[in-house]
Amino acid sequence: MRVLVTGAEGQLGRDVVHVFNTVSNIVVSGLGRQELDITDFNQCKKVINLIRPDVIIHCAAYTAVDKAESDEDQAYAVNTLGTRNLAVAAESIGSKVCYISTDYVFDGRSDKPYKEYDVVNPINVYGKTKQAGETMVISFSHRYFIVRTSWVFGLHGNNFVKTMLKLAEERDHIKVVDDQKGSPTFTEDLAEFIYELIQTDKYGIYHASNSGSCSWYEFAKTIIEEKKLGTAIIPCATEDFPRPAPRPRFTVMDHLSIRANGFKECGPGKKL
Ligand SMILES: NC(=O)c1ccc[n+]([C@@H]2O[C@H](COP(=O)([O-])OP(=O)(O)OC[C@H]3O[C@@H](n4cnc5c(N)ncnc54)[C@H](OP(=O)(O)O)[C@@H]3O)[C@@H](O)[C@H]2O)c1
Repeated sequence: MRVLVTGAEGQLGRDVVHVFNTVSNIVVSGLGRQELDITDFNQCKKVINLIRPDVIIHCAAYTAVDKAESDEDQAYAVNTLGTRNLAVAAESIGSKVCYISTDYVFDGRSDKPYKEYDVVNPINVYGKTKQAGETMVISFSHRYFIVRTSWVFGLHGNNFVKTMLKLAEERDHIKVVDDQKGSPTFTEDLAEFIYELIQTDKYGIYHASNSGSCSWYEFAKTIIEEKKLGTAIIPCATEDFPRPAPRPRFTVMDHLSIRANGFKECGPGKKL
């Protein structure tokens, strides 16, 4: 099986390539922005025609949630039109598409874990452009997986875990919001789920996060405790920590599609 990974220099893309390289039945081409700029339609068609992947795992994205509020055109160009470009090019050679989407497609007003069929209603530009990317995939690809994930952390790139560890070096206390709840997800666990998924024809939308949920405050406290650091973690409200992009308050996702399709579901802190 030939697999093309977009955004292969990013946090998730790198670990998808790493995990896929450990299995023998897959030849993986991981392309960063230098090799494949997804906003360039002609380049997408050319590269995909050359590699002729059986599956494209689309990890590339504009992920700067706050910056997107004032940089809407670029966020739309990457997350929505870039995804359109890939879906159209993939369809022309009969390739499956696995689009990595986000819990931020939901508005966070629920108090029950979101299911795959729940109505989306993103409240920030990043979420809107990613959701419009989902629509592009659904419109132009016949063989698609949409994998919505959340609060991703891994060895590479920037993430909440690294931010907390860096702040802990500089400060004796850190204020962290306690009224936004979600599910942290480890890149390698997600990559292993994607590996299982793409070998099937069980197309559709999947919620794939690690099991369990917490607030950012609880997540930060655990990180600091695990590392046995002395930094005090102090809970605060979203209002105390104003940011350009509004954040959904609750984005815990139920894994209905994973269960119903017979994929593995695991408990807190375990693999997907
Ligand atoms: N991080 C999270 O908490 C989270 C949560 C939910 C869903 N997701 C989704 O998971 C996926 C992976 O996210 P991540 O955490 O790995 O993000 P990331 O570390 O920011 O990686 C995204 C990659 O996409 C690249 N990229 C941006 N514009 C591009 C373009 N025009 N053409 C090709 N590549 C381009 C970026 O390159 P540059 O560095 O050069 O810009 C970066 O390497 C994304 O679809 C994201 O929406 C992430």
